[in-house]
Amino acid sequence: MITIKSQSEIDLMRKAGKVVAECHELLESKIEPGITTLELNRIAEDFIRKSKAYPTFLGYYDYPFSICASINEQVVHGFSNKEPLQEGDILAIDLGATLGGYVGDAARTHGVGNISEEAKKLIAVTRESFYKGMEFAREGFRVSDISHAIQTHVEENGFSVVRDYVGHGIGQQMHEEPQVPNFGKPGYGPRLQAGMCLAIEPMVNIGDYKVRLLDDGWTVVTKDGSLSAHYENTIVITGSGDPEILTLL
Ligand code: MF3
Ligand code: CO
Repeated sequence: MITIKSQSEIDLMRKAGKVVAECHELLESKIEPGITTLELNRIAEDFIRKSKAYPTFLGYYDYPFSICASINEQVVHGFSNKEPLQEGDILAIDLGATLGGYVGDAARTHGVGNISEEAKKLIAVTRESFYKGMEFAREGFRVSDISHAIQTHVEENGFSVVRDYVGHGIGQQMHEEPQVPNFGKPGYGPRLQAGMCLAIEPMVNIGDYKVRLLDDGWTVVTKDGSLSAHYENTIVITGSGDPEILTLL
């Protein structure tokens, strides 16, 4: 069942989304060569708790951190550790906050110091593909219209979209119906309706779309070792045109 949120529920989604957006802004200001992902994880957890929210990922199916920190060829769900970030790395941070019973979920990918032109392009195309999807996140379209727009932009730029992990409905649960793949033919899946809340999250590889899981049971990496980027926001479909992005300030 796809839940349709009332205005008062959307207000709560906005509050949760704001904590996520502010936390991303704080982390972005800290990212530089030498800092560790464990330090970033601590900064995020402290900020989320200080905001009277709970770090949604912590303990979710026993996930042991408040952020997912995925470096270079890591696609999603990377573990934080004590390795200092190095100039030239790219770091995807995904985080969630639960406030007033509702969840916000968003991911960003950052360069650490100077990064290659190809890495810059990967990060830019991943973010742009989210916005291409947004053009179809409106009443009158279907879920796979979003998917198709994302895939088209990524592939036009010579990159590939991950198939094994997808976006999702979101609300009182982090993962609700429907699934929102980042690939597929247009015109399929549920019709979009005002009050639907979705987490749209393209995961994009420079090389092949195939991924594999590391022995820690969580970290997803590209099979070919190529760089991967992630960009995600929680949005709400409105009755009047553009969706509202809940995890941007
Ligand atoms: N944002 C992610 C998702 O949408 C990551 C959650 S995984 C977790 O699925 F286990 F860390 F929570
Ligand atoms: Co998500």
